[in-house]
Amino acid sequence: MTNRTRSPRYIVQGGAPLRGSVRVAGAKNHALAAMCAALLTDEDIVLTNVPEITDVDSLSELLTSLGAIVEFLSPGRLRINAGNVTTFEAPTELISENRASFQVMGPLLSRHGYASSAPPGGDVIGQRPIDVHLSGFELMGATVSRNGERFVARAPGGPGSLHGGRVFMDYPSVSGTQNVMMAAALARGRTTIVNAATEPEVQELAHLLNAMGARIEGIGSQLVEVEGVRHLHGATARVMPDRIEAGTFAIAAAMTGGDVEILEAPVPVLDALLAKLRVAGVQIEQGETTLRISRNGDLRAVSFQALPYPGLATDLHAPMAALLTQANGVSIIHERVFDNRMLYVGELRKMGAEIVSTGSSAIVSGPTELHGASVRALDVRAGAAVLLAALVAQGTTVIDDISHMDRGYEHLHERLQALGAQVERT
Ligand code: EPU
Repeated sequence: MTNRTRSPRYIVQGGAPLRGSVRVAGAKNHALAAMCAALLTDEDIVLTNVPEITDVDSLSELLTSLGAIVEFLSPGRLRINAGNVTTFEAPTELISENRASFQVMGPLLSRHGYASSAPPGGDVIGQRPIDVHLSGFELMGATVSRNGERFVARAPGGPGSLHGGRVFMDYPSVSGTQNVMMAAALARGRTTIVNAATEPEVQELAHLLNAMGARIEGIGSQLVEVEGVRHLHGATARVMPDRIEAGTFAIAAAMTGGDVEILEAPVPVLDALLAKLRVAGVQIEQGETTLRISRNGDLRAVSFQALPYPGLATDLHAPMAALLTQANGVSIIHERVFDNRMLYVGELRKMGAEIVSTGSSAIVSGPTELHGASVRALDVRAGAAVLLAALVAQGTTVIDDISHMDRGYEHLHERLQALGAQVERT
């Protein structure tokens, strides 16, 4: 395989404690949902603090293929205009690039009365069904059928004809809640979403929709009420800082025994992580939007469950497991959101970690001296876990398939280098 065709890799020399300051980039999962919301209006949606990640690129390509104008006005400032959307069929090759892309369905269906898409792609971290999205659309009057691999959704009387309803989410799905909320924003009457996801990115989407003229109440609760309106207008929104990225830097600082100031951190939504890090023996100074993370003494084992918000985020599960390889004692981890999030375990074991998994649980014994190895980034967060492990491993670690990490982390190696890490990208 030549350099032109293979995915880039990281080459990491472990051992350097991270020191300095780093600014958190915009949140992937807020930015992606907000980009889909732009399909609800023919006016401009302008998003600032949009992260430079490949998931934003692939969703931009998808929106463009539908007829929207998507352009960066300056770095991080994205304008989307969906005034001339002429296609309501999301191309399969673009839908399969990421999970968020299926959120074009709700807006297209409510505004134009028709939408079609293959199942979404994204990380292979579990079954990732879309039943709650589809049953939500049906409860608002849509018919949903299959045409080969594609889902086809039609509103009963064409554009703007979805009606409100009471939508029970069988699971508080993040993108399911967002999809139904966007569809309900332009439906006739009131939609009540019961067992809604409460993740901060869902809340931010609701605030953007309200800024566009929607009438959403109960934001942040499990009971969201959406009073449909006939028309939504343009708006500008700043993408919130990425809580998973902030958490990853915090774990990296703690793991390497460093001292890092994390700027523009979404401190109020990091409670679960910060509580666990404190129990593990990490020093944390927190301001309104800054965190200073340092560690002098040994790390202690902590057990945790990955849960829907406000529990500890599933996207921090693998990075936390990497940290716990350095902690004294036995830590027990239960993954309660996805059913296949343990892919990182085998990679950490190649580096000498004492970690075993069964089903959706893992047991980590520490501290272990990790050593460099040849490993893979099997998904965006599994990749973060091996990169963190490589920062403390003896010798050189080669991490392949890091294009997965480019989907969710902005210029990660350069920002780690600025903190003193020895990470090269080739
Ligand atoms: N689920 C259902 N039925 C559905 C939808 C989901 O049972 O119709 C179940 C899934 O099987 C899974 C659980 O619900 O067990 C959680 O899935 P959810 O739909 O909440 O996740 P998602 O919307 O696909 C988003 C983020 C993920 C993040 C999860 C959980 C986006 C684009 N992705 O995924 O982010 O892990 O919420 O917080 O918003 C990442 O950033 O690395 C990432 C994977």
